Amino acid sequence: MVYLKKSNGDYIYIPDLRIRVFQKLKLQPLKERYRALIEAGWNTFRIPVEKIYIDMLTDSGVNAISLEQLSDMLGLGLEDAYAGNRAYYKLLDVFKEYIPHKYLVLTHQGRAAENLVFRVLMKNGKKRYVLTNIHFTTTRAIVERVYGGRMIELPVREAFDTASNFEFKGNVDLLKLEEEIRRLKPENIAAVRIEYASNLIGGQPFSLKNYYETREICDKYGIPLVADISMADWQIALMKKRDPLAKGKNALSIIRELMELTDIAYASARKGFYVRGGFITVKNNDRIYEELRTWQVVFEGHTTYGGMSLKEVAMLIDGVKMAFDDELPFYELEQIEYAVKELDKRNIPVVKPPGGLGVHVDAKRFLPHVPLIPVNNQGGYPAGALVSALYLISGIRGMERGQISMDRDPETGEEIPVELDLVRLAMPRKTYLKDHLDYMIDRLIWLFENRHVLKGLKWVYEPPIMRFFEGLLKDHDNWGLELSNIYMKHFGEF
Ligand code: F0G
Repeated sequence: MVYLKKSNGDYIYIPDLRIRVFQKLKLQPLKERYRALIEAGWNTFRIPVEKIYIDMLTDSGVNAISLEQLSDMLGLGLEDAYAGNRAYYKLLDVFKEYIPHKYLVLTHQGRAAENLVFRVLMKNGKKRYVLTNIHFTTTRAIVERVYGGRMIELPVREAFDTASNFEFKGNVDLLKLEEEIRRLKPENIAAVRIEYASNLIGGQPFSLKNYYETREICDKYGIPLVADISMADWQIALMKKRDPLAKGKNALSIIRELMELTDIAYASARKGFYVRGGFITVKNNDRIYEELRTWQVVFEGHTTYGGMSLKEVAMLIDGVKMAFDDELPFYELEQIEYAVKELDKRNIPVVKPPGGLGVHVDAKRFLPHVPLIPVNNQGGYPAGALVSALYLISGIRGMERGQISMDRDPETGEEIPVELDLVRLAMPRKTYLKDHLDYMIDRLIWLFENRHVLKGLKWVYEPPIMRFFEGLLKDHDNWGLELSNIYMKHFGEF
C-alpha cells in the first residue's frame, strides 16, 4: 500500500522503499558550467557527468538498483557459461509468470531488439510500413534508415496538445488506423506498433479499451500487433490510476491481459526493467521466433545471453519483478505529478497530465520568440536552447526531445517540423529526492522570468543520422554569456 488515508481525510503517499547506497554530488560553479557547455557544443549529450549536478538526461541505464539486484550482480551460484548459464533458465521461469508468451530472445539493448524485430517483420524491406501510436527515435532510424521503410504515426489529436489533460494521449486514432491500412494495403504493412507510456509525447499511456480495439483491427486485416514495453511499469501504474477497465486489477493481471493481446513484445530493459539489456517475447509464432533466433546469434550472441553479461541476465530476473510490482512505479509518478503541478501553478508550460518518464517542458510555449527551425542563420530550436540554458543556470541536465531530435528528410535534406518541441527532465527510478525537484522547479521559474534573454542555437557540425547525439551547436549572438551575467548578479557563483 502506498496510498494511505491521512488524519484529515486526504490521501498520503508513503514510499515503500528506503535508499541506502548514495553518491556524493557536486554542483560546479557557473563559470565551469559555461565552459562545459561550450566544450560540449551546446549539446547536453556531450557534457561529462562530473560537470553535472542533477542528471535528468534519461532514465535509461541509470536507475537505482535493488538489494536483490545487488546480490544478483555477484552472480553467486549462477555459473557463467558461453551457453546455458543458470540465470537464463531462472529468467525463463520468471518471464513465464508475467508474460504469457512462448518465446524469449535476449539482446544487448532496446535498439538491438528493434533491429531484430523489424528485420524479420519487414522481410528486409519488402513490407514497407510500420503504423504506430508515436514513433521513437531509434525505432524510426531502424525502420526507415536501416530497412528503407516508413513509420507512420497515428496518434489521437490530443497527443500533441501539451495543455490538454486528456488521460490517454498514447491512444491510437482507430479511424485513421483503419483508413491507413486500407490505403497502404495490409500486405505492405509489417506491424502495428504500440509504445507503452509513449516516450516522445511525455510518457503518456493508452487505455485498455483502445488496445482491445487496436487488436480487433489487427485481427481483421491479419497484421501483427507489436508492443514496445520498455516503460510498461509506468504504463500499468498509470492505468491503475486512470483506466476504468484496469480499476481493481493488479499489475500482474494487467500485464498478462495486455500480453495476451500482443503478438510480439520487446523492450529496452535499461528502462522499466532496471538493467542494461533488452529482450523480445513472441506469443506463439514458431516461424518468427526461428528467424529472430537466427539473427540473434549473428548480431547479439548465444540465445542464453544475447549480448548481456551474466550479471545482467541475473539482474533482469528481479528487474521483471520490479517492473510489474504493484507499488514501486508510483515513486516516480508521484515525483512527476508534484513537479508538474508546481510548475503549472506558475504558468510554466509543461506536458499535462503528469505521465511517466519525467517532466516535459513545452519549449515552443516557453520561448515563443525562438523559431522552431533556424532562419537566415539567426538560430532556432527552442528546446535545444532551453535545455542548454537550464544546464547553464543550474547544473541540471535534461534532454532535447524536439526538432533537433528529428533528423532531416533523407531524400530532400529538409527539416521535418515537429509537433512537439520538448525539454525532457527524466526521472531515473528511485534516484532523486523531493529537494532535488524543488531546486529544479526554482531554477525553471527563474529561467521563465528571464526567458527573453534566450535566443536560438545554430549548427556547427550536423551529423546525418540521429544528429542529436553527437551534433555540435552554438548560441546565436552569445546569449549564453548575457544569461550568465544576469545570473551572476542575481545569485553569485552558484
Ligand atoms: N524504445 C523506447 C520506448 C525507448 O525509450 C528506447 C530508449 C528504446 C526503445 C531504445 O532502447 O536505448 O536500450 O537501445 N530510450 C532512451 C531514452 C534512450 O533516453 O529515452 P536502447
